[in-house]
Amino acid sequence: MSDARIELAPGYTISRLIHGGWQLSAGHHPETTGGAHLRAGETVDELLRLVDAGITTFDGADIYTGVEALYGRLLDACRRRGTLPPQIHTKVVPDLALLPKLERRHVEALVDRSLRRLGTERIDLAQFHWWDTSVPGWLEAAAWLDDLRRVGKIRHLGVTNFDREQVGAILDAGIALVAQQVQYSVLDRRPEGGLVELARGRDVALLAYGTLAGGFLTRTWSGADEPDAELANRSLTKYRLVIRDGGGWRAYQHLLASLEEVASRHGVSPANVAVRWILDRPGVAAAIVGGRSAAHLASNLETLRLELDDEDRELLSRALEGFPGPTGDVYHLERDRRGAHGSIMRYDLNALADPASRTSKEDAG
Ligand SMILES: NC(=O)c1ccc[n+]([C@@H]2O[C@H](COP(=O)([O-])OP(=O)(O)OC[C@H]3O[C@@H](n4cnc5c(N)ncnc54)[C@H](OP(=O)(O)O)[C@@H]3O)[C@@H](O)[C@H]2O)c1
Repeated sequence: MSDARIELAPGYTISRLIHGGWQLSAGHHPETTGGAHLRAGETVDELLRLVDAGITTFDGADIYTGVEALYGRLLDACRRRGTLPPQIHTKVVPDLALLPKLERRHVEALVDRSLRRLGTERIDLAQFHWWDTSVPGWLEAAAWLDDLRRVGKIRHLGVTNFDREQVGAILDAGIALVAQQVQYSVLDRRPEGGLVELARGRDVALLAYGTLAGGFLTRTWSGADEPDAELANRSLTKYRLVIRDGGGWRAYQHLLASLEEVASRHGVSPANVAVRWILDRPGVAAAIVGGRSAAHLASNLETLRLELDDEDRELLSRALEGFPGPTGDVYHLERDRRGAHGSIMRYDLNALADPASRTSKEDAG
């Protein structure tokens, strides 16, 4: 497991497999099951198992209801047992309605609220998102976050879902960006359209999400017909659209069969091959793999042991030719709020996540 960890910035090391926390948030599952995975004590115990196995980095967001507080309990549990703290990454996602009137104090209040929920004095990595880049203000907001980094509330600054040009503009403004979190997988190779080159050239680490397409890149879906009913969670709803617009169900099934073929050569699962493929891409520092528990821990550790050889890579690159994936810059499709990808997203979760917060509900108006 020689590449199990990576230095994201000088003196700051993370695990190359990051546990994704969206799946732990109340809003990820339909109303009927929402929040069922946030059984505080049990969930913290599950997350401690990941930490002990070397998956020490966790991805959350201020809009993943309940997740920052959960990570706060994880940090507390590590403190109490006297072990090293995990690395906690969160996101700063001002609500869409707030963007035209966003001020420095709003950004600071969002960060302060995350710090309170996490029970820490400094956020390890704050990843900034701006829902609509045609609304001016994102560069200023990134600079305000960089100021919060300078005063010590944020250890490192990242962004998520910015196009290549905007990442370049943020860097050109002298903002100390260390990472961009972006959708990148065998199904969605849009970062290869220019972002990867920029990121590598300017030392911005890519943290890839969607690496299992919410579960579509696992054996569960091998040979399955295209679902036409409502899916079990928001990830599957999202990645079904990626499959539809990236090549269609048949092409996806063919790609899944190729992942299985490579997996069988090594005695692992197609999920392992999909995540290994992304970890091997130039510029990718880590793969975020979501989960409700530690149930897939043993399998995910296999990914770190897996080494793809030339024959595997050849087989996979032929399979990828048959699934071109979505086109355009990394968040182009999603940014169209009336389009299929944009219309399934929720743009007001900071207001909903903490109705008592003055930052969100009142100001988001
Ligand atoms: N920045 C953004 O806009 C953005 C967007 C989406 C996601 N994310 C981040 O990325 C994370 C991942 O989310 P995602 O939606 O892209 O999902 P994903 O990681 O592609 O897939 C997660 C699903 O895979 C299953 N799984 C995990 N390991 C497995 C294994 N070894 N074998 C079989 N199944 C396995 C999990 O199962 P269980 O449900 O059984 O645990 C879960 O349902 C999120 O939690 C979040 O942190 C960020």
